[in-house]
Amino acid sequence: MSEQLLKKTIVLGIETSCDETAVCIIEAARPEKSDIEHDFIDIPEQGPKIKVLGNALYSQIEKHAEFGGVMPSVAKREHSKNIVPLFIKALTEAGLYKTKKIREKMSADISEKILTSLNMESEMANDVIELFETTEKPQLDVIAVTQGPGLEPALWVGINFAKTLGTVWSIPVVPTNHMEGHILSVLVDSEKENKTISFPALALLISGGHTELVLIHDWHDYSVIGRTRDDAVGEAFDKVARILGLPYPGGPKISDLADLARERHTHGEEKNPLIMLPRPMLHSKDYDFSFSGLKTAVLYLVKKISTLSEHDKQNIALEFEESATEVLIKKTREAMIDKNIRTLIIGGGVIANKNIRLAFQKMTELEFVDLNLLIPNIEHSTDNAIMIAVAGYMRFTNTSKVKDPGQTSFRASGNLSL
Ligand code: KG4
Ligand code: ZN
Repeated sequence: MSEQLLKKTIVLGIETSCDETAVCIIEAARPEKSDIEHDFIDIPEQGPKIKVLGNALYSQIEKHAEFGGVMPSVAKREHSKNIVPLFIKALTEAGLYKTKKIREKMSADISEKILTSLNMESEMANDVIELFETTEKPQLDVIAVTQGPGLEPALWVGINFAKTLGTVWSIPVVPTNHMEGHILSVLVDSEKENKTISFPALALLISGGHTELVLIHDWHDYSVIGRTRDDAVGEAFDKVARILGLPYPGGPKISDLADLARERHTHGEEKNPLIMLPRPMLHSKDYDFSFSGLKTAVLYLVKKISTLSEHDKQNIALEFEESATEVLIKKTREAMIDKNIRTLIIGGGVIANKNIRLAFQKMTELEFVDLNLLIPNIEHSTDNAIMIAVAGYMRFTNTSKVKDPGQTSFRASGNLSL
């Protein structure tokens, strides 16, 4: 496919569903309908080409650490404070930020509308008014914003900001599903490598709020075939970390501790037979998961040992990581066989874990020769705006399947499903 045949679209992505405020600008292109060799094929197999032009992300982790988890009111305040500066940063990086020669005062009714009807925090509303008064309309074709799932007060900040930009600058706004973003995060960097999704594909989504196996029949056509019955795997990592006295978010810290134990074992140290954890639902005849019992088992183990040495903590972290990995691998493998899967996608913050990445790479290489395994790089595994821009872009361009892409009447949806 030659470059001229690809229509380029500039997409602004906005993500505020949890504790990351993220804004990005991507350039995306996909084959025009006329390039498709066979008319009866609705969507070409060749995926889009994605190039990141600007990316700005502020992690609020430190603001939430003292509470041991994400506080919605703090998240909302921090998003409101940071979203406009991050937008300017991403625009600047993309070479799209241009200030007006003279500040143009907004008419009273428009600024009134921004201040009141969109129900923004005053700090953000003032930033937004200043932005419109001082900034030339940038060359953006579409705005993608996370609609859900996530914390509603946090989601509203991104949505209100996106709607205001869309209304004042006449740019269509596409509400985007955060989990579809995690799925399509594997397409980032597709300018460099050909990242094709062949259907049927399977997505294993492992994050702080979700653990799901999703069968993908076609673009945007999903069936959730398995899910956690209680805690998400990322949540279990965070809770086990808390039990071991580690600060939020615990996932990366558990992984570091597990590595230390692994290191000792490779140097010949025997595993402590007392530190054993269950593999929940390993043999259940479905694709569901359960991680709450595993966390409780850690709690009992810690109580039994009473004074935990550093080595005990490392051994528990390793055993927990291995248990979670084994269950994730087993269920995914079964679904892949049963559903004749051609592409496996793994998305969500937990796939930033290098041992889980490695375990999936090894398993698929050994057992599924023709499989296309797509995993986002580590920085795009945890929440970011690029995945939202990619997912929004795909929705926007698949207009045959998506109604009213430019709508602005949508609401935040904390429990939005795929
Ligand atoms: O996708 P994400 O950034 O946010 C949600 O949509 O939930 O995922 C965050 C989750 C947290 O639970 C965090 O502890 C976990 O991903 N996580 C990890 C690692 N890095 C982040 N879990 C295990 N190992 C890691 N290296
Ligand atoms: Zn996420």
